[in-house]
Parts: sequence; C-alpha cells; structure tokens
Amino acid sequence: MAAIPALETPTQPTTITQLQDAQSYAQHVNPIWVRLLDVLGMNVQYSHCSGAELFTADGRTILDCLSGYCVHNVGHNHPHIVAELVAELQRQSPAMLQSNVVEEAGALARTLCDHAGGKVSKVFFCSSGSEGVETVIKFARAHTGKTDIVYASGAFHGLTCGALSLMGSDFWRESFGPMLAGTHEVPFGELKPLEKLLASRKIAAVVLEPIQAEAGIVLPPPGYLEGVQKLCRQYNVLFVLDEVQTGMGRTGRFLASQRYGVEPDMIVMAKALSGGLVPCAAVLMTDAIYNSVFHSLRRAFIHTSTFSENSLAMRAGLSTIEVLDREHLIERGEAKGMELRERLRTALSGFQMVKEIRGEGMLTGIEFQAPTTLAARVSYEAFKAIHAGLFGQILVMRLFKEKNILAQICGNNFMVLKVAPPLTVSDTQLDHIVESIRDVVETIHASTSFWTDALQLARRAMAT
Ligand SMILES: Cc1ncc(COP(=O)(O)O)c(C=O)c1O
Repeated sequence: MAAIPALETPTQPTTITQLQDAQSYAQHVNPIWVRLLDVLGMNVQYSHCSGAELFTADGRTILDCLSGYCVHNVGHNHPHIVAELVAELQRQSPAMLQSNVVEEAGALARTLCDHAGGKVSKVFFCSSGSEGVETVIKFARAHTGKTDIVYASGAFHGLTCGALSLMGSDFWRESFGPMLAGTHEVPFGELKPLEKLLASRKIAAVVLEPIQAEAGIVLPPPGYLEGVQKLCRQYNVLFVLDEVQTGMGRTGRFLASQRYGVEPDMIVMAKALSGGLVPCAAVLMTDAIYNSVFHSLRRAFIHTSTFSENSLAMRAGLSTIEVLDREHLIERGEAKGMELRERLRTALSGFQMVKEIRGEGMLTGIEFQAPTTLAARVSYEAFKAIHAGLFGQILVMRLFKEKNILAQICGNNFMVLKVAPPLTVSDTQLDHIVESIRDVVETIHASTSFWTDALQLARRAMAT
C-alpha cells in the first residue's frame, strides 16, 4: 500500500489556455450545455476539489451536495486513492494487455463479493452503469433462454439503447427509438401487476433500483423488494438490482439491497465504485449465470469490453473500498444522513410547498408541491407552463449563487431536490446545508422576488 502524501492545494489563476479551452468546449463539445450553465449562472471555473468542497478560480468555495450524481461518496480526490493511483502508474503495470490474468481484477472481484454477501460470487467488469445494465440484459437472456425484461415506472438505468429500453420516460426516449422489443413497465412498489406479467412465462429478469434515485428518492414500500424476490423465485425469473447510485455505502449499507434483506441474482454497480477518479463498473452475479455465458473455450471472451479490467480502475475500486471501511464512512453516512433529514424536517416544517423529506443514508430528497395560496399559485403555474423543471432549477440556481451549494433536482421528478453530499461531509457543512436550504425555501414562501426574478430569467432563457 502506498504512503498517503499530503495533497498540495493548487493555486491556479485562470490562464489564457484555459479560457481558450473553455471556448473550444463550446465549439467542439456541447454548446447547449454551456448555454444552460450560463443561463443558470452556474458556469464557473473549478480550480480544484477536495473532500466535499469545490474551489473556483475566482475564490469561491462551493459545498458539493450532488457528488457527481453519487460518484464522490468518499469525497473528491481522496489522498489515499490518489496515492494508490500514482503508485499504480509508477509501477508501470501491464495496465491493459487484454491477454493476461489481471490480479487486481481478482482482488477487487473478491472484495466486492465479500462486501455484497448473498449469492453473488462472480463479477463482470465494465466502465459505466449503462454498460452494466446492457450486460444484465444479455446475461439474463443467455441464462434463462427467455427474452423479456421487466422494469419499473420512474426508473433510470442509463442512456444506451438497451438501458434506455428499461426506462419508460418519453423525455429520455424521444427520437431515439425504436427501443428494444420485449420490455415491460410495472408500477414501482406494486406486486400484483408484476405477478401478472411474470405469469406470462416469457420474462427473463426483473430489473429495479432498490431506491429509485432519479424518480425522486422513492423508497420501496415495506416488503416490496422481498415480495419481488419471492415472485421471481416462484416464476423462475432473475431478480436484478441496479445499485449504480445506491451502492458503495450511499444509502447506509454497502448495498441498499442489504437494507431490505434481499439477495439479488445480479447487482449492477458503478459511479462511486472507483472513488470518482477512473471509470469503473461491475456486475455481480451468481456462478450459474456467469457460466451460462462463459461456458466453453469458444466463448471465453464472448462478452467483453476494452477498458473493463484496466489496472487503474481496479486499483481505484480497491482503494475506494479500503477508504469506506477504514474511515467507517458507511456507518457515518447512515448516522449523519438520518440526522440531516431530521434537521431538515424541523427547519422546513410549516412551509406549504414542502411536501416530504425522505431518504436513506446520505441520499435525501426534499419533495416540493404546488402552493395553495392564490398569489403564489399563479406564479407557480406560470413557471410550470414555461417548463416543468423550472421551479426546481431556480431553486438549484439560488442555492448555488447565494449559498455556494451545488445540488440538483431529480432527473425524472423535477419537484424533488436531491441532497447527496459525500459521506465525509462535516458537521459544520451539514449546518450550512440545513440553514441554506431553509433560507432559500423561506424566500420562495415569503417574497415575490423569487418568482419575479425567476420569470425574468425564464424569459431570457427562451430568448437566447
Ligand atoms: C440507477 C442508475 N443506473 C444506471 C445509470 C447509468 O450509469 P452511467 O451514466 O454510468 O452509464 C445511472 C446514471 O445516473 C443511474 O443513476
């Protein structure tokens, strides 16, 4: 294990080259994204990031409550992970031969299976959550000899064609069809419609997020996941959990499935798996499923991916789990997350637009609702008519500009603000989160300026 060096704090004034590169981004990568960030006043230049803090070139310190959509569970640039990656590069390892046994992959697979418990004992590595979901679709078909896959309403599983076929949202699908045939949506949280589908006998797998993050931090009703697992066993269907956002300690256990006492046949992990520094994803599964795909020398590499077992990603995964364990971050996330929700409930009680605060571990959603008083209702409806996500986006913008907090609304539920700081977030930082959200929510309720500023901004956005 490499020694942990103290990371120097970079001081980085903006250079001409950086400005040119930013312009090149607009020219050659995604001009619309740049425009959106500009409209929201969120197009700042980050000089460096550490723990839960993001430092901008013009001297601001922003508290990260997004964690790159649950990538930075151990905080940004954790010194141990950085040191391990530097050591891996320095040892000039056979990083990507594609012709050898990768020892680091063995170590990471063993560690993941040990931490996951349950029935999984094999791991397929890839580089993104979507790629993991594609793997699940192929392996489920190969193992069961059946074709169809069931997914839940509100789900987010990724934006490649197979993963997108397991998401019902017209927004994400529009203009990218046709989708994969044989996929079926069921309401999240209900067992009866699921059982009806499973009885058709053509279903290979049910793919669910244990807690639906982008749907609005939707928790499974009591007994739901156990019920799904039971039905899957009854009808000989694979039970698959997508833990891309919920895994790696985010929800107070190594995996959210452990919260609910279920043992899936396959588990998809990604995002926080490699400390936010190297792309890495993993599909954990039973021996039997694995053997259905890799069953003979002829098929030894029948499903593979160039960067999958690269030694940097594997080293990042191993050192990230070391950090989670060594610093007891999962337990910390569980305790501090519960405390955060309690404090938010107290701070936001009595505000008519706050509907519910819910979550597990360090994954919290604040759900808003339409106001009941007439004046606020008129402004709110005007917002909604312009864009369903406008209210939430203005909230995000205000938190960013006025309180130096980076947060986001959920991708499939614009009325839920997601609060997901790194598990390392300090008590003082939690104080700042609670006070800031309270202040902004108070502004929404107490002054008309929130609505008028926002309407002006919306008009500007439409005009650009
Ligand atoms: C639950 C879930 N599954 C899958 C994905 C897709 O992962 P990726 O963006 O790495 O392809 C995401 C991405 O946000 C996700 O939240």
